[in-house]
Amino acid sequence: MFRMKSMRSFMFLICPVMVLVFFYYSSGRLQLKNSVQKSQADLDSLLSVGRVVASVYDKQGFLLKLDKKLPLELQYKYGNLSKGECKQGFAQAKMTLIYPKFSKPAPMFLDPNYKRLSKISSYPPPFGVRTQERIIDNILAATRSYSLGPELDSIPCKKCIIIGNGGILFNKSLGTKIDQYDVVVRLNEAPVAGFEKDVGSKTTMRITYPEGAIQRAERYEKSSLFVLSAFKSNDFKWLRHMVYKDRLTPGGPLTVNQIQTDAFETCGPEYSLSWRMDGFWKSVARVVPRAPQDMRILNPYFIQEASFRLIGLPHNNGLMGRGNIPTLGTVAITMALHNCDEVAVAGFGYDMNTPHAPLHYYEKLRMSAIKESWTHNISREKEFLRKLVKAGVIEDLTHGI
Ligand SMILES: *[C@@H]1O[C@H](CO)[C@@H](O)[C@H](O)[C@H]1NC(C)=O
Ligand SMILES: *[C@@H]1O[C@H](CO)[C@@H](O)[C@H](O)[C@H]1NC(C)=O
Ligand SMILES: *[C@@H]1O[C@H](CO)[C@@H](O)[C@H](O)[C@H]1NC(C)=O
Repeated sequence: MFRMKSMRSFMFLICPVMVLVFFYYSSGRLQLKNSVQKSQADLDSLLSVGRVVASVYDKQGFLLKLDKKLPLELQYKYGNLSKGECKQGFAQAKMTLIYPKFSKPAPMFLDPNYKRLSKISSYPPPFGVRTQERIIDNILAATRSYSLGPELDSIPCKKCIIIGNGGILFNKSLGTKIDQYDVVVRLNEAPVAGFEKDVGSKTTMRITYPEGAIQRAERYEKSSLFVLSAFKSNDFKWLRHMVYKDRLTPGGPLTVNQIQTDAFETCGPEYSLSWRMDGFWKSVARVVPRAPQDMRILNPYFIQEASFRLIGLPHNNGLMGRGNIPTLGTVAITMALHNCDEVAVAGFGYDMNTPHAPLHYYEKLRMSAIKESWTHNISREKEFLRKLVKAGVIEDLTHGI
């Protein structure tokens, strides 16, 4: 009885204590929870500091603050070179400084092992090689050369210049300077003969797509590499014809039937149906006066990288679409960033504010002629090229960018 009573009074005593303990602990937990929340807040503010750090880069991943200054290690490496001496690895070093995502390996041209290049195997043209493997294998088996050639391959430091076709080159007398570069890249049908004073006389390679290629054989320079930049599947088929010298009705117009027959004989039935001349937006060259070993296929990775990564054009599920194709000039510059030690450009720059300036250095077409371009985004592209010039990754001899 007594024990029962004392037990009850014990319970009376213990209950408030337990309630107190409960409150004590739950408030403790509350505090604990508070402090967790607080440290979460600390973490957030830390992260936002991190975001501030991250925002020294723009949306594309380029440093926002661009200048030509070199960090100490590059000053040490290049500071002592005499003026004009080739700065080995300069373009890539400077590019990586302003764009840390830049990774160097990307060969200029396709070689028979191109299937190892995973980035291009998942996209169809213009961003990759998917669906075109068979015809590419066919072309590469005939060209049997996949580099700049023994002489240039052996130079440990290469200076390259990309000659744009812009009217800005006209009457600037840059010819002599241009000819001093190890690699002179010209685009499409840009002529040399008659313009040497302004554009030089040396041509290491001419990068073109079928519609842009020189149509009259006698207008080609004596020797240069003929490099296809393919934008559509038909472009590869066209190159195959140029490589195999399928002359097709010399002199006369190309007819669909003849091409179909010809394609059928060489490639099998699946090509005969798809190979049609109306797959081009203007007439194309029927003959390219080059031996197969002087023909190359430009690595389509440069189109992909320029569009999706460097300029930031719409991905459009990896297909050609409105405003997502870089111009050939920017594709060539992207190629040079990966493969040259120093990169210069001349003849670049569309000034939309002066529609009456000549569009090209060799003809009377005016700027206004390119105003509505469906595939390109000239203003976005110019933003990208300006970053390269501002940071001194490339040198712009005509100051048009
Ligand atoms: C550059 O010159 C300085 C001073 O003349 C010298 O100390 C340094 O080692 C040189 N650097 C290189 C890479 O040659
Ligand atoms: C080319 O430039 C020179 C001066 O460098 C000038 O005298 C000449 O008029 C210019 N020619 C044309 C066609 O603009
Ligand atoms: C070019 O890009 C700008 C900015 O992203 C966009 O507003 C414009 O519509 C684009 N032009 C074309 C032709 O796609």
